[in-house]
Amino acid sequence: MTEQTQVQDIQREHQKYVVDLGGWRRSHHCGELTAAHEGQEVCLMGWVQYRRDHGGLIFVDLRDRNGLTQVVFSPDAAPQAHEKAHVLRLEYVLALKGRVRLRPEGMVNDTMPTGQIEVVVQDWKLLNTSKTPPFPIEDRTDAGENLRLAWRYLDLRRPRMQANLRLRHQVAQAVRRHLDAEGFLEVETPVLTKSTPEGARDFLVPSRLNQGEFYALPQSPQIFKQLLMVSGLERYFQIVRCFRDEDLRADRQPEFTQIDVEMSFADEEQVMGMTEALMSTVFREVMGKSLDAPFARMTWDEAMSRYGLDKPDTRFGLELADVTEIVRGSGFKLFAKAPLVKAMKVPGGESLTRKEIDEFTEYVKIFGAQGLAWIKIKANEWQSPIAKFLSDEERAGIAQALELAVGDIVFFQAGEAAMVNAALGNLRVRLGRHLGLVDDSVFRFLWVTDFPLYEYSEEEKRYVACHHPFTAPAAGHLSTMCTDPALARARAYDLVLNGYEVGGGSVRIHSGDVQRAMFEALGFTPEQAGEQFGFFLQALDQGAPPHAGIALGLDRLIMLLAGCSSIRDVIAFPKTQKATCLLTSAPSPVAAAQLRELGLRLREKAVPPAPQDTDQA
Ligand code: AMO
Repeated sequence: MTEQTQVQDIQREHQKYVVDLGGWRRSHHCGELTAAHEGQEVCLMGWVQYRRDHGGLIFVDLRDRNGLTQVVFSPDAAPQAHEKAHVLRLEYVLALKGRVRLRPEGMVNDTMPTGQIEVVVQDWKLLNTSKTPPFPIEDRTDAGENLRLAWRYLDLRRPRMQANLRLRHQVAQAVRRHLDAEGFLEVETPVLTKSTPEGARDFLVPSRLNQGEFYALPQSPQIFKQLLMVSGLERYFQIVRCFRDEDLRADRQPEFTQIDVEMSFADEEQVMGMTEALMSTVFREVMGKSLDAPFARMTWDEAMSRYGLDKPDTRFGLELADVTEIVRGSGFKLFAKAPLVKAMKVPGGESLTRKEIDEFTEYVKIFGAQGLAWIKIKANEWQSPIAKFLSDEERAGIAQALELAVGDIVFFQAGEAAMVNAALGNLRVRLGRHLGLVDDSVFRFLWVTDFPLYEYSEEEKRYVACHHPFTAPAAGHLSTMCTDPALARARAYDLVLNGYEVGGGSVRIHSGDVQRAMFEALGFTPEQAGEQFGFFLQALDQGAPPHAGIALGLDRLIMLLAGCSSIRDVIAFPKTQKATCLLTSAPSPVAAAQLRELGLRLREKAVPPAPQDTDQA
């Protein structure tokens, strides 16, 4: 009899069990049997992880989401069960009944929770066969991410991925329990809605019943949660999907999840305190760690000055220093007239090789830098392509400002502030990793406060809201928000964890008139503001209470808790960097009839899809 007909025979014989499990009920999960269960009759169900034929015996590691158990098919114990077991292959699905016994001397596996025991099979049923999986279902896989995403349901069978999803579930449950106990109501807000300006492009959904009109998928529930405050809900939260059509990175997805919170009669202190208590609960209940609260705080100006980024990883040093004044008028032309010159000292960095420095130079070009100046501090000289251009006075000034010592290397960047900070700030993060300065077992939260109210958009050639246009200006900045936009500060705060922005929020404008003034400052005519946000302005005029809130990026938070480097690893079915789903092939063309129904016609023949890819960051 060929193997195939054997399998078919067994399947036929077991057909009824596929439908109703033959009345069998699993008694235990595969990760829970220990020596304490010796002698017990058990019923397990799961997948074949490994199969080994050893002389007369067939060993199978049976896997369910809980772990692995070694089961033994023995010709002596149950000849029929053993005979049929020859057909078993990787990922076949079984139900089995058997007796737990201690593994013989020398066969104990201390690395497995169930390594003391094995189950001797008395009877089993084949619940399903499986084609050979395209990659082994193991944590250590060399399968590329594209293959894993195309076969995501198999990828999710891997214990690491299951642990990530379990962690995500535990955090979500802890959040719900905590916020419920604090009097927050979970309210769902619409997914088919009007655009909320969070700074990204909207995903649009055409309306069939109102042809030519579109819903926008929410970039966040910002307007609705504020409306809920006007409704008198006082304390709202939602674990909510948000949609943003923006360039994707390892920590950005086109659809992602926020823990969204809003509080009435509250200011920044209460929102920060609520967030710290929430994070403390999550860390205590899920990670078994206690957090030091209150979290450290730093103004945006200080973060930019010391770290070059508004989300600094404060677990290591390598701070930046402003040396603009020291090198003003320098013989080194690039420094002489630059609006900003910053330096970063790397203690002991003198041992960095030319090749490494060349790699860093390429890296900073991503942020608009033309190159990367450096000086190695040797015992008798400053070794550097630029040292000869620096006067003794400049050298002395730099040495003093940076407290240089032999063995250091200093990196410089000169130019516009945004570029200088981005280049050195990101290089700092890269060096921190490169030099092993980051302790991954540490979780360091930081509030960044006093954000600018506006940022200049080169694309739009105008100031746009730095957070969103509903953010209240800082005290004293109300009158200057139109006249001096570059200097206006916002009552906004970001929560940073280990160099990632894991949350952002603000005190809101709750007066219709101030909100109108804000729209005006952002260049809206009253008509435009009315057209886009009339309903919201009207609501603020109806007794809106003072309110403030925050949204935490759940995916990023889980990524950091799970020790992953991409949020794709903590999302069950994520998109690639090109916003495609390799499993379902979304997005995909639709039938002409569907377009007709929506009153849509494609302007030109659809461009063939770009090759599918994911970023390797
Ligand atoms: P913000 O735009 O800062 O604020 O978003 C809040 C948090 O959501 C996470 N996040 C993302 N995570 C994954 N992929 C993305 N594309 C993505 N974009 C944002 C970040 C971020 O800190 N309505 C305001 C909140 C408020 O003011 O209350 C808002 O959405 O962790």
